[in-house]
Amino acid sequence: MNHKKRIAIIPGDGIGREVIPEAVKVISASGAPVEISHFDWSAERYLADGVTIPPDGFAMLERDFDAILVGAFGDPRIPSNIHAKEILLGMRFKMDLYANVRPVRLLDAALCPLKGVEPKDIDFVVIRENTEGVYVDVGGCFKQGTPDEIAVQEDINTRKGVERIIRYAFEYCERNQKQDGSPRKQVLMADKANVLTHAHGLWQRVFKEVSGEYPQITAQHMYVDALCLQMVRDPRQFDVIVTNNMFGDIVTDLAAALQGGLGMAASGNIHPGKTSMFEPVHGSAPPIAGRNIANPFGAILTAAMMLGHLGLVAEAARIEGAVLEAVRQKKTTQDIGGTLGTREAGEWVAGRASAYN
Ligand code: NAD
Ligand code: IPM
Ligand code: MN
Repeated sequence: MNHKKRIAIIPGDGIGREVIPEAVKVISASGAPVEISHFDWSAERYLADGVTIPPDGFAMLERDFDAILVGAFGDPRIPSNIHAKEILLGMRFKMDLYANVRPVRLLDAALCPLKGVEPKDIDFVVIRENTEGVYVDVGGCFKQGTPDEIAVQEDINTRKGVERIIRYAFEYCERNQKQDGSPRKQVLMADKANVLTHAHGLWQRVFKEVSGEYPQITAQHMYVDALCLQMVRDPRQFDVIVTNNMFGDIVTDLAAALQGGLGMAASGNIHPGKTSMFEPVHGSAPPIAGRNIANPFGAILTAAMMLGHLGLVAEAARIEGAVLEAVRQKKTTQDIGGTLGTREAGEWVAGRASAYN
């Protein structure tokens, strides 16, 4: 019997094609028992033969793999972004990966743009609903191209969808510790219930109900605009944040800035018990693509998150430790103050994370 974890690798576009090979290098160096298969689904492939994802693609991923590691999608030659929609949002929706887990951790004080903030001060996680909201692409245009044009984009919030993501956040809080070993204690829901009275009224009612089942966890609430203020003013106060698809997208770019930028942020698209997909928070960054300057650490930390999810906890910890050491020793790309290229930073971490040291 094969005990190796089967990983599908989809680098995608732009810097995804540079950072993912570094993540793969580090996984191999860590000695993690994995079997890796590459897929070329990307802008390049779409432009070549019109394929975004083959007809049986999602079923094949679910059937043949334990996890998926993805780079990024987005290419200026495809302004409709149709391939990103079909591949990336396709995986999230069609594989029902309902929890987008985005940890926010400061590895070194030097990386944070805020004054007087230490690594112990920033260690929270954003749990983003990943299968509903305005992302469902329900809507349409009427009288397009006329002065009377109307555009409608629906915001879908189901009782089932809202309940499962809020419950996931409470379960996450209960089961996960902070980096320093202390327990997580608080779940904060961010919404805009003062304006989106119907949609976020549902979130409010469900949050109240589910939080009642977890009396040991402090339940808090903030409107999303206030959350943005507080994240910059005092990020120490956050622990587990749960929010809808669109707000989760926006606040995790803001939160990435607290960690040293988009090059440092990791994420997982998870459905417990099913094949889940892991990707850095950043996009394909076309202006810096192909120049060996993109920061590979977000992708490498994402790979560690994936290994941890697969139960390869020692390998994940070794990789995280190696990235931490690289940051401390400034063996990094320029965006976070180092002088190394993408490949050189990846090599350094791979050497440090090596199981054969
Ligand atoms: P982006 O994340 O690609 O870039 C935003 C900024 O962060 C840019 O200044 C970029 O240079 C910088 N940056 C991002 N990753 C970096 C890294 N690893 N190292 C150093 N700097 C980094 O976002 P964008 O510019 O808004 O979008 C570009 C394309 O990517 C668009 O097509 C967008 O739709 C797509 N996108 C895809 C994903 C994804 O596939 N998960 C996520 C976000 C954006
Ligand atoms: C992200 C990205 C995606 C999103 C885009 C590329 C569809 O910004 O993963 O954060 O909006 O979810
Ligand atoms: Mn985003």
